[in-house]
Amino acid sequence: MTGLCGIELSGPVLNASGTFDAIAARRAFGDEVLERFPFSAFVSKTITSAPRPGNSPPRLFESAGGMVNSIGLPNKGLAGFLADDLPQLGELPVPLIVSVMGTSREQFAELVAGLAEREQVAGFELNVSCPNVESGLIVGEQPSETEALVESLRALTPKPLIVKLTPNVADPAPIAEAAERGGADAVSMINTLKAAPADPLSGLPWLGAGSGGLSGPSVRAVALHGVRRVAGAVSIPVIGMGGIETGRDAAEFLAAGALAIAVGTASFRDPMAGERIARELAELRPEGATE
Ligand SMILES: Cc1cc2nc3c(=O)[nH]c(=O)nc-3n(C[C@H](O)[C@H](O)[C@H](O)COP(=O)(O)O)c2cc1C
Repeated sequence: MTGLCGIELSGPVLNASGTFDAIAARRAFGDEVLERFPFSAFVSKTITSAPRPGNSPPRLFESAGGMVNSIGLPNKGLAGFLADDLPQLGELPVPLIVSVMGTSREQFAELVAGLAEREQVAGFELNVSCPNVESGLIVGEQPSETEALVESLRALTPKPLIVKLTPNVADPAPIAEAAERGGADAVSMINTLKAAPADPLSGLPWLGAGSGGLSGPSVRAVALHGVRRVAGAVSIPVIGMGGIETGRDAAEFLAAGALAIAVGTASFRDPMAGERIARELAELRPEGATE
């Protein structure tokens, strides 16, 4: 067993938010998904207070060694999540971590307060790669904004708060330190790298939203650098992700100081990639799967 800030895990491999739809997987593959769930905890797609339609298409671009997405966080909003998704996600055989995002502290607070009492919810991941409407600044790019946000949410729940760090800063360590000062239980990293593929003929951005986020193997070395840097700067656990495709990749993140890892883009090619990566990792580091 691996303990992740009070959440008991059967192994160190989680999913990265927004890259594995457990409800759709169960619809497509049936209850076998529950019997052979590929992750030791499930991190939901990021939800927001109000429903969002997401960005205009095209939303995906395949790049060398990865993809650029501008999905834009389509989701049913808090009320829709509580009514439709939470009961189904509560049936998963692993702890549920709900990813939340707001454009103000009040919106984050509404989400955390609205979910904290639900027994299905083991903890929260705070997606801070978003602008604060009041300051116009991306919360997760500013230590002071990150610290104040976490501090305000800390008062609302004893359940674990995991801050998802953006790689779009010169140095992620001051942000991670600010999250720790605010009372975060862990940090996860990396979210996607800002990217903007262009159509060579028209010269226009390829994605409907103009730009998006790069993920997949092409970001792995960047993620590893960030994980090593942050793990050396904070004493709370680090969940590492970014381009993990094999047990060997996962072992690199654990060696860089991550306590657990998450699989994202690799699940699009193979929904059971998480299970394979956990198996390969256990073969490589039999001692690494236990704490
Ligand atoms: C299609 C897609 C959707 C994503 N949606 C979210 C999301 O809703 N919330 C979030 O915090 N990260 C989201 N991410 C970022 C991933 O969780 C992860 O941080 C990133 O992709 C790096 O891991 P990977 O290279 O293994 O995919 C998304 C990534 C992709 C590719």
